[in-house]
Amino acid sequence: MVIREIQADLEAIERNAALYEEINFDSRVEALDFLDFHVLDRLEGLLQALNPSTELLPLQRRAEDVKRQLEAVDAALFQRLRADIRAGRCRGASLLALINTYVGRGASGEQAQQEIGYDNLDVFTNGLFPNLAFPLETQEREPEMVFYQKTPARIILELVEQAQLTSADVLYDLGSGLGHVPTLVNLLSGATTKGVEVEPAYCVYANACATDLNLSRVMFIQADARTANYSDGTVFFLYTPFQGRILQEVLARLQAEARSRSIRLFTYGPCTLHIAQQHWLKCVDSVDHTIYKLAEFSSLP
Ligand SMILES: C[S@@+](CC[C@H](N)C(=O)[O-])C[C@H]1O[C@@H](n2cnc3c(N)ncnc32)[C@H](O)[C@@H]1O
Repeated sequence: MVIREIQADLEAIERNAALYEEINFDSRVEALDFLDFHVLDRLEGLLQALNPSTELLPLQRRAEDVKRQLEAVDAALFQRLRADIRAGRCRGASLLALINTYVGRGASGEQAQQEIGYDNLDVFTNGLFPNLAFPLETQEREPEMVFYQKTPARIILELVEQAQLTSADVLYDLGSGLGHVPTLVNLLSGATTKGVEVEPAYCVYANACATDLNLSRVMFIQADARTANYSDGTVFFLYTPFQGRILQEVLARLQAEARSRSIRLFTYGPCTLHIAQQHWLKCVDSVDHTIYKLAEFSSLP
C-alpha cells in the first residue's frame, strides 16, 4: 500500500514536464523537498524495516535519478548566472528583476518577518555563490561570540531597499560569517562592502567567493570586531554577532566613529533591543520589539 503511494508520488513528479523547465524554480525546490522527505526518506525507512524487496531498490534508484535530473536543471541555471555575474552582466536592478522572476515571494515574505526562517529565496541566492567546500571553524569562540547563522536573504534584500546605498557608501557587516551579506549587498547596490569576521576559515571562504565572482569592491577582513578599523564605514549591519561586553565595546567603537561623521546601523535579531537603548542612536522606525525584523538606526549629531 505505502509502496503504491510512493510510486504514484514519484510518477507525478516524473510526468510533470514543467519541473524540468528552468524558469519553474519554486516548484522544483518543492519537488526536491518532497522527493527527499516523502519519497527517499520513506523508501529508506522501508528498506531498513523490510528485506530489500525487488520492488524497493529499483524504486529508490528511480527516485534518485529524478532528483539528479532536477538538480542538474538548477546546476545549469546557477552556472550560467555566476558566469553572468563574473562578466558584470547580472547586477543591480537586473539581478533583482531576475530574482523576482525565479522566486515568488508573496505571503511568505510577510509571515517571515515574525521569525527567523529560510525560504526559496535563500535556496536561490545560495546558488549564486560558487560551489566551494564549506569551511569548518578553526578557533574556539569566546562565550559572548555568536555562532555562524546566515541572515535570511529576504532581510538582505530589505536592507538593500531600505538603505538606498550610493557609490560613496561603505557597508560593514560585523561578524560576516560566510559573506552572504556583503556579497549580495554589493551585487544588488554596487556599494563597497566589507565583512569583519573573527574566524579565519570563514574569511578565507568569503574572500574566495568574492574573487571567484569577480567582485572587486567586496572584501573580508579577518579581525575581532572590537579592534577592526572602521574609518571609512558609513553603514553597519549587525545580525547579532556577539553579546554582552563585546557588543558594548563594539558599540563604543562605532560611537567614536559617529563623532566625526554620521553613520547608520541596521540590525537584525536580539541585538536590536540592546542597540535601541543607545542614547547616541535614533531609531528610524519605532522599535516594536519584534527582534526578527530589520531595524534602522542613525547616529545623532
Ligand atoms: C549570527 S552570525 C552572522 C553571520 C553574517 N553576518 C550573516 O548574516 O551571514 C555571527 C558571526 O559573527 C562572528 N563573530 C562572533 N564574534 C565576533 C567578533 N568578536 N568579531 C568578528 N566576528 C565575530 C561569528 O564567527 C559568526 O560568523
